[in-house]
Amino acid sequence: MINKTYIEPSSLKGMIAKRKLFIWGARHDGYAASHVLKRIGIEQTGFIDSSLSLQGTQAFGYPILLPDDFFDRFSNSNAFILIASGFYIDEISKICREHSFRKINDFLIFGELRNFNYQVDVSGICNLKCISCPRGNYSDHRSPGFMSPQTYEKLILKILKDDPYTGIISLYNWGEPLLNKKLPEIVRLTNQYSLLSAISTNLSLKMDFEAVIAAKPTWFRISNSGWGKNYEITHTGAKWDVFYDNLFKLKKYREKHHPEMIIELFFHIYNHNQDDYIKIKKLCDLLGFTIRYRHAALAPLDNIEKIRDHTPVNAAVDQTRKLQVLKVEEAIKLAESPEEIIRPCYYEDHLWINWDLHVAQCMEWYRPGLNLVEKDFLSVSQEDLIRARNNNDFCKKCKEKGIHRVYCIYGDEKIISLKGSLRDHL
Ligand SMILES: C[S@@+](CC[C@H](N)C(=O)[O-])C[C@H]1O[C@@H](n2cnc3c(N)ncnc32)[C@H](O)[C@@H]1O
Ligand code: SF4
Repeated sequence: MINKTYIEPSSLKGMIAKRKLFIWGARHDGYAASHVLKRIGIEQTGFIDSSLSLQGTQAFGYPILLPDDFFDRFSNSNAFILIASGFYIDEISKICREHSFRKINDFLIFGELRNFNYQVDVSGICNLKCISCPRGNYSDHRSPGFMSPQTYEKLILKILKDDPYTGIISLYNWGEPLLNKKLPEIVRLTNQYSLLSAISTNLSLKMDFEAVIAAKPTWFRISNSGWGKNYEITHTGAKWDVFYDNLFKLKKYREKHHPEMIIELFFHIYNHNQDDYIKIKKLCDLLGFTIRYRHAALAPLDNIEKIRDHTPVNAAVDQTRKLQVLKVEEAIKLAESPEEIIRPCYYEDHLWINWDLHVAQCMEWYRPGLNLVEKDFLSVSQEDLIRARNNNDFCKKCKEKGIHRVYCIYGDEKIISLKGSLRDHL
């Protein structure tokens, strides 16, 4: 449900008054919030994040505090919190209230200031066929192609008009963004309009990508699922040597063009790569990249629904299921539990805009033709998008089945520690 609290930037300054401002969430959403605050002239003191892998690190030069550390040092008399952590808004709001922070007076939810998060798939093609991804496990696809910088600029202008608190644009969803030869221009345009950009790439390409780094994207994620031959199983079609060399190129290009760029390697945990984590972690330390991890999921949600409803699936899906540490059935059971199923949907305020400007029903469902609205993004009004999302029968069914929470379960670091999925490597 899109349920917004628009607050004029000048009123927001008054509400914070002389207190120190902390953003809860030191990832994507948090980066966006940080940038918007800078744009509207509000000073930030730091981030709060419960992820152990981020402790001791900084984002944009601001320290990242564990929640306990924060509450030991600050109260609602000297601090104000802006929650920008997608998956766990309700849980974080509860913790804030337990520490006497009141909604609106002492904390706000960044996502409620803006309407949507924009996932713009600038490339409708991928070079790999990973078995956990619809590129490798789904037979029907949307038409292939790339977004042009001209179209992208029109799209940005519309977003800024419709949704002024937008801080970041993600330039990927199911495609491989580096395949779009105009990506450097697209990144430059994003910077020109004072927006941050996020790229996620398999980095398993022979083409050179120096121009992309020279264009200065804000946040650069590399997807990985192991070392050597293990990596090649679940990054199906990729070559470890190509990937490995590219990591060193990336380090070199960052130093040369854009030392502030945030690089995050995203390690997908399977049962064949659990012991690779430590090697990949050491490599990240050597390269100066942040490492993050999550249980490897099976995508897209269309496949999750098939398994839930006992509909037959194909061989690639079955192979993924065999390699998963957190099995789909287990994730579905957790997502359907009474306390989980009632939680909000993280994806409801995300829009997947395809390279051809179609607006998909949901960024995690894949089947072609499943769109939120008939009109393309440039022709549809923001009110119609909100209306389409809020009166959405497809979302209603998805939530009734608990499917909307399955990927939050896969992303939950607490479950990773509970299951010991990274053995004793943490
Ligand atoms: C489908 S990829 C497409 C973007 C790009 N081609 C890439 O590989 O990063 C989008 C995001 O999904 C994540 N992802 C891919 N396979 C996954 C899996 N099995 N489990 C969890 N996340 C996964 C990737 O790390 C990436 O950030
Ligand atoms: S289809 Fe499901 S996961 Fe997607 S936005 Fe709707 S409720 Fe959320």
